[in-house]
Amino acid sequence: MAGGLKLAILCSTAATIATLFLLRGPLNDAHGDYREPQSTFTEPEPSTCSDGNSNITNFAEVDFPWYTITPTQELIWHACYPSFQCARLSVPLNYSEPRGRQAAIALIRKPSLFPQRSRFYKGPVLFNPGGPGGSGVALILSLGSAFSTILGPQFDIVGFDPRAQHDDGFLEHINTANTATDMLTIARAHGREKLQYWGFSYGSVLGATYAAMYPDNIERLVIDGVMDSEDYYATGWLTNLVDTEKTLDTFFEGCVDAGPDRCPFYAPEPEDIKRNLTTLFDQLRKVPIPVQNSRAYGIVDYGTLRSAVFSSLYSPYTTFLPLAQALKQLAAGDASALVSLLGSLYTPYKCSCDAHAHEFDAVRDAQTALVCNDGDEVPPSLSESEEYVRKLEKVSEWADVWSFIRLQCVGWPKNKKEFRGPFVGDTSHPILVVGNTADPVTPLRS
Ligand SMILES: *[C@@H]1O[C@H](CO)[C@@H](O)[C@H](O)[C@H]1NC(C)=O
Ligand SMILES: *[C@@H]1O[C@H](CO)[C@@H](O)[C@H](O)[C@H]1NC(C)=O
Ligand SMILES: *[C@@H]1O[C@H](CO)[C@@H](O)[C@H](O)[C@H]1NC(C)=O
Repeated sequence: MAGGLKLAILCSTAATIATLFLLRGPLNDAHGDYREPQSTFTEPEPSTCSDGNSNITNFAEVDFPWYTITPTQELIWHACYPSFQCARLSVPLNYSEPRGRQAAIALIRKPSLFPQRSRFYKGPVLFNPGGPGGSGVALILSLGSAFSTILGPQFDIVGFDPRAQHDDGFLEHINTANTATDMLTIARAHGREKLQYWGFSYGSVLGATYAAMYPDNIERLVIDGVMDSEDYYATGWLTNLVDTEKTLDTFFEGCVDAGPDRCPFYAPEPEDIKRNLTTLFDQLRKVPIPVQNSRAYGIVDYGTLRSAVFSSLYSPYTTFLPLAQALKQLAAGDASALVSLLGSLYTPYKCSCDAHAHEFDAVRDAQTALVCNDGDEVPPSLSESEEYVRKLEKVSEWADVWSFIRLQCVGWPKNKKEFRGPFVGDTSHPILVVGNTADPVTPLRS
């Protein structure tokens, strides 16, 4: 293999839709399966399981009964959710044993307006929302129409969930190399030898891995909100936060520009607002604020506020105004707006009389399994962990909300690493690389 990956760089200052370790809830525009911070909130449990959730008719309206589809090796599409099609594809759990145990992949598509025989039809484009382990089905349900508008009606807009299998012993088969091969399998199930793909955030690691493994099988490949793949496979997580402060600075600057009438947390200089926020952090560290409303009760403490501010950086256009409002109230001793901002972040598990209701829910385990299976082993030593946190603190003041990503892999079973790069190769079509100039977790430098 000669030369590096062919790259075309396109920068954009638009808000990122990178979803790396996003928090769930109205703070965020894009969806996926995200790590939630330790909750200090409790919502009242439904008194019995026969609440609205158990209404199977309602369930079918809101969600799709995936269990009604039997996984097959050919793609068989079923009408699902209004205006989408769903399928479940059967793939080998271990690609070295193609006739061995199978895993199932949930697929959704917003079909092209053109039939496959039309000369205008351009085939499927696969998407990955990041996470890692985020749901591509949820991504297409929320943004599939937008992607179709951007790319045009000649494409099928396709999302897929991480591979799943309900028996024991499938966890070790969840890794990025297998997911890359799953993408080729999905392209081939569409009758194509080359992939069209657009991946965000962790989806850039998946795209780079695919490009390194199958450089000849690329029709078009876009990686958007790029992560440093080598740092990812080293379980380093040391390169994500170099622009986080830059993103937060746009909150301070934007608030000054908006003026006292339009920015509730206004002060005359960005430095004043920054200092006011630091004061709030310090206050909550000493004196957390209790909240009780009709939906939730608990305390807003330092960690809650850190998570809220950090996650707001993922969707500045929609979140900075409500964040400013919540901070103003918080400074006056009222944490209820912050709780509203966090919203469904603290939605607890709800029981249901429908045995299938949670069968296909996204689970966070996919994220840990990917990160820890893919990455180098993390030594199980306290001093090493402390040293790591100190190292990350030198990169960013947000080490407190980020260091868990590596540290969750302490004690993870050692396994053979199927793929370690290198990320060089001559791809069959140049790769398009997209980055934001102020991205909180996938900095332009990556
Ligand atoms: C269950 O769903 C049906 C159809 O949407 C609705 O008419 C009915 O009121 C619902 N029942 C409950 C208990 O929510
Ligand atoms: C996959 O199958 C090959 C060949 O049987 C085997 O050597 C390898 O250990 C398997 N991988 C895993 C993760 O079980
Ligand atoms: C923010 O800082 C300004 C200037 O330092 C100060 O006058 C103001 O009272 C502070 N506001 C809050 C909410 O802390």
